[in-house]
Amino acid sequence: MLTREFVLSFREAAPYINAFRGKTFVMAINGETVRDGRFPSLAKDIHLLVSLGVRIVLVHGARWQIDVLAQRAGHAQVFRGDKRSTDSQTLELVKQAVGYTRHEIEAALSSSMRHVPVQGSQLRVASGNFLTAQPMGVIEGMDMQYTGSVRRVDSEAMQARLDAGDLVLVSCIGYSPTGEAFNLTMEEVATHIAIALKAEKLLFMVDSQGVTNSQGEFASTLTAHEAEALIASGNLQGDVAAYMPYAVKAVRQGVARAHMIGRFDDGAILEELFTDGGNGTMLARDPLVKVRNASIDDIGDIIDLIRPLEEQGILVKRSRELLEMEIKSYSVLEHDGKIFGCVAMHPFPDAGMAELACLAVSQQKRDAGFGEELLKHVEYLARAQGLASLFVLTTQTAHWFVERGFAAADISQLPLGKQRLYNYQRRSKVFIKPLR
Ligand code: ARG
Repeated sequence: MLTREFVLSFREAAPYINAFRGKTFVMAINGETVRDGRFPSLAKDIHLLVSLGVRIVLVHGARWQIDVLAQRAGHAQVFRGDKRSTDSQTLELVKQAVGYTRHEIEAALSSSMRHVPVQGSQLRVASGNFLTAQPMGVIEGMDMQYTGSVRRVDSEAMQARLDAGDLVLVSCIGYSPTGEAFNLTMEEVATHIAIALKAEKLLFMVDSQGVTNSQGEFASTLTAHEAEALIASGNLQGDVAAYMPYAVKAVRQGVARAHMIGRFDDGAILEELFTDGGNGTMLARDPLVKVRNASIDDIGDIIDLIRPLEEQGILVKRSRELLEMEIKSYSVLEHDGKIFGCVAMHPFPDAGMAELACLAVSQQKRDAGFGEELLKHVEYLARAQGLASLFVLTTQTAHWFVERGFAAADISQLPLGKQRLYNYQRRSKVFIKPLR
């Protein structure tokens, strides 16, 4: 049955499907995620992404598997903070655990093929010696032995695999130029690769749904700056605390977005990637909301925004021709590249005033504070032109403006040019806000 929700979701998803084709996503999963019974469904979603033309590098850890083998062998483990000091016996266990985990992943990816009915969609998994590692050395008096850090990523070799349409699977082991193996953390590996490949996204699958901020509220989006403040607060817990510094590093060094996505919810990754709001936490390099000057290409979007308000009599009717003529007076608000609001400013320099007009925000985003953003923008523009006050004519939305510093005024306080055009039938009320 074709439901309304399906149609709306599909329309919401389509722009992302198009935007992600040919883009590189680095996805980091820990050892627990692989052993979890839900892994086959995640593998299916990964395969689906590959079938849509997303270039995927899958990085896996194996900490849980290493711990199990060490316990079985009765070999005690030493940690410095959250990093294991890897002695030579442990390194053998690391190799076993990593090899085992890798095969589990390949098996799940291979069986995922039955579920993605794309013509000729054979998912090929590529591996290789993509990572050069170096020993971590002695940290605060502890010799980390075979625990290493990433020295170099062979991005050319990886790109060649991705160009061929393969999924690149990378384990948390790297080799030194002398052939020694080093135990690495998957978060460090994934971050290095994302930066080296200039990936569009770095995705961490996490135990929670995402990040909770200091007020205990779920944070759907964070700027790198806000994320750093959260790290400094010491309030982050568990895997999110471990990954966050890497997510920040990635977006600071050119990765457009880093996401933390709940690994327990079936399909969470699809919801995060193919809806506007997502369901996890997203760190973005660029601010998501941006107000800019409108151009002639925005007229269709502006009309879509204002028509419903014109029909309700909240805004006066404006023809397409009028909008085209006055487009230089308009600004639009974009969220993640889509237009959700508009406003116009008409200056009356002789009177030291400007009119704020045609303020509209999409019904979908009523409570996102976009109206305020647009008002702030107009105030900024008016101040920059040396104007002393803003006025607005409104019939139905007076309270909104009054709550934001406007006061009722008389028609006689309007610039003369505006008084002459005043529409006595519409009987709009006049509100003025001083800018200083
Ligand atoms: N689907 C979009 C993307 O992948 C937006 C996701 C927004 N996510 C969020 N947690 N706010 O870029």
